[in-house]
Amino acid sequence: MSSTTVQAKYEIKDPTLAPKGKQRIEWAGREMPVLRQIQERFAQEKPFDGIRLIACCHVTTETAHLAIALKAGGADAILIASNPLSTQDDVAASLVVDYGIPVFAMKGEDTATYLRHVEIALDHRPNIIIDDGSDVTATLVKNRQHQIPEIIGTTEETTTGIVRLRAMFNDGKLTFPAMNVNDADTKHFFDNRYGTGQSTLDGIIRATNVLLAGKNVVVVGYGWCGKGSALRARGLGANVIVTEVDPVRAIEAVMDGFRVMPMEQAASLGDLFITVTGNKHVIRGEHFDVMKDGAMVCNSGHFDIEIDLKDLAERSTEIKEVRNFTQQYKLKNGKSVVVLGEGRLINLAAAEGHPSAVMDMSFANQAMACEYLVKNKGKLEPGLHSIPQDVDQEIARLKLKAMGIAIDTLTSEQIEYMNSWTVGTD
Ligand code: ADE
Repeated sequence: MSSTTVQAKYEIKDPTLAPKGKQRIEWAGREMPVLRQIQERFAQEKPFDGIRLIACCHVTTETAHLAIALKAGGADAILIASNPLSTQDDVAASLVVDYGIPVFAMKGEDTATYLRHVEIALDHRPNIIIDDGSDVTATLVKNRQHQIPEIIGTTEETTTGIVRLRAMFNDGKLTFPAMNVNDADTKHFFDNRYGTGQSTLDGIIRATNVLLAGKNVVVVGYGWCGKGSALRARGLGANVIVTEVDPVRAIEAVMDGFRVMPMEQAASLGDLFITVTGNKHVIRGEHFDVMKDGAMVCNSGHFDIEIDLKDLAERSTEIKEVRNFTQQYKLKNGKSVVVLGEGRLINLAAAEGHPSAVMDMSFANQAMACEYLVKNKGKLEPGLHSIPQDVDQEIARLKLKAMGIAIDTLTSEQIEYMNSWTVGTD
């Protein structure tokens, strides 16, 4: 449903879902103490007064807290989805109805609608863009150069978006600052690893209800998301196989105790395949041909390009929905392959994305990155910027404190030792 003014003020599935959304947003808040403290400070200091901001994120209970914090800081913020299948419609409704934050997102929106929402967001004439996958920033750079003078900067949430921004910079097209939130330690060590690890397995289980113990699970890619997925699949009793193209990551997987082999070999062994590479067509025709009957494939990388579904459809005589987010492709060779979540992020399509406790740190980084951009307006070079180390450390400190965990501090003797080169073998 959209509001009825000429330029719609929001576009969501159903505003009557708001009470359920509000209840879930409040529940998530229990696990987000760091972002809550930042929100309280923003409410006092109003760092975003006069700033127009758009956030292109998965519309979840956790993103709701980010949007609320930014609004508390004075931002004129609107929210769109960063993936057609990841919106939680009750959350979108509550943000509009209870928190007065415009949202343009509906779970299951088609690509045309998704892209129209990107244009609506850019019509907001943002000074700051929070991006997840870089679709908004790329559209701005491709089609709206005239708006670039109004941009203070962009912040990027995910590995795929960082890869795109780097390519954009190398092409000479990134002419404003971009904060690399993904690579903050308090982001990728936790969100990419433990967040993806837990939520990917959660999505697979919610979609299929299969037992993972004893299954051969092939994890395609051993970056942080792959590490987390492999770790959690093993925890559930699966025999995990890893495929990789990077020799260092491959050794790491071997020494972490996983079997490593090319996809050509793994394809015929796997019961379940999880792609987390950020690359294209890592599972394709020749792999589908040799898979076991009933093998399941899913993706937890940002875009739905990792599994070549067009190729799979061409090899199939029938595609049937067998459960929510679960489609069975009947192959011409008589076997079937089951695709979960249409090859889109399974953790957000079939489950609720990363748990709030990790998104607390990811979105604390986002909030602080936006504040950093405003504070350093006009001073930062175009291109990617790391989250300052003191911000990363402060987020970790606040998280530990909220968890009731104390740590040691260096003695003055130790500080002196760590800063000297003269003391060695005595
Ligand atoms: N990305 C992965 N999980 C997420 C979540 N719960 N909220 C927002 N973005 C996410």
